[in-house]
Amino acid sequence: MTSTTTTPRSATTAVALSGVTKVYGRGSSAVLALDGVSLDVAPGEFVCLVGASGCGKSTLLNLVAGLDRVSGGQITLAGDVNPGLMFQEPALFPWLTVDANVEVPLKLRRLPRAQRRERVAELLRTVHLGDFGRKRPHELSGGMRQRVALARTLALDTPVLLMDEPFGALDAMTRDILHDELERIWSERQLSVLFVTHNVREAARLADRIILLSSRPGRIIYSTEVTIPRPRRIDSPEVAAIAAEVTERLRTEVGRHGQ
Ligand SMILES: Nc1ncnc2c1ncn2[C@@H]1O[C@H](COP(=O)(O)OP(=O)(O)OP(=O)(O)O)[C@@H](O)[C@H]1O
Ligand SMILES: [Mg+2]
Repeated sequence: MTSTTTTPRSATTAVALSGVTKVYGRGSSAVLALDGVSLDVAPGEFVCLVGASGCGKSTLLNLVAGLDRVSGGQITLAGDVNPGLMFQEPALFPWLTVDANVEVPLKLRRLPRAQRRERVAELLRTVHLGDFGRKRPHELSGGMRQRVALARTLALDTPVLLMDEPFGALDAMTRDILHDELERIWSERQLSVLFVTHNVREAARLADRIILLSSRPGRIIYSTEVTIPRPRRIDSPEVAAIAAEVTERLRTEVGRHGQ
């Protein structure tokens, strides 16, 4: 079976991947990017996906987002859910104001104008950009643009958030602040998050569970629950200890492939 469906598999699963395989291309140029990945994300769970460059992290996220089709296996999203997607680049419309950018998904959902305005203002307050609605993206810093992208994703009102290195291009201080904000929003809205990162410290700071993918083809080779109480600090010894453990496994994996 090779499909993405929206039928609930279980009330305790928000996103379920079962034996997911992805092959790009055909014949001698075919690339096996993912091989038999099975993973359940519980409602309200924060899962971080780490792995070497090219191991299939973005591929996996794009498949869950429905941007591409699996070659084998199945992906199930509980309920009639369209996940929200955030990338490393905020991908805002440069000619639109911040307000108008955040309003796009609300327009697509055909919300009446007055409701849209109210909602945009509330979302911008949520990401601490209440006073910036009339600016355009080029007038904002990188961290502020990423917050606008987060507000726009939240405007979808979806319980599932897929994030592909959303803070990868930010300086450490800005990233710390956005970690705090994302954690607060995630916990308030009880979102299920699948978050891709190269940064194992970031994974240990944010995740309920860290999943490590092997070098290509991506397979799950390690998974660990992170039970450090929240809120966490990225420079705490507990976070460092988890990060060291994951880094060691990642290093062994990358070494095994001579990359
Ligand atoms: N559209 C595509 N066509 C062909 N091959 C692709 C395509 N997209 C990805 N690949 C290949 O699939 C593999 C996995 O790519 P993917 O982008 O998922 O890796 P990644 O883990 O996200 O890497 P990074 O950490 O560098 O972002 C890579 O070998 C890549 O070259
Ligand atoms: Mg990627």
